[in-house]
Amino acid sequence: MSEYKSHKVKLEAGKKYAWCTCRFSADQPFCDGSHRKHNATPSLAFEVDTDKEVSLCGCKQTKNPPYCDGSHNDL
Ligand code: FES
Repeated sequence: MSEYKSHKVKLEAGKKYAWCTCRFSADQPFCDGSHRKHNATPSLAFEVDTDKEVSLCGCKQTKNPPYCDGSHNDL
């Protein structure tokens, strides 16, 4: 399913990001606060040391959050 695939995004060093863990965000793969309406687990905050392009998990089954580890291929 396409909504479960990873999201390729460019991240900036030192900037704070919030990866959506609940799937309800309309701004995937990032949190938009929708977890509050659903009493779901809040986002995972993270940042990177250098500017880079990464694949963030979309299926929420990764063993290496917030990064894609290919778990969506098993769904
Ligand atoms: S909207 Fe999903 S963790 Fe915040």
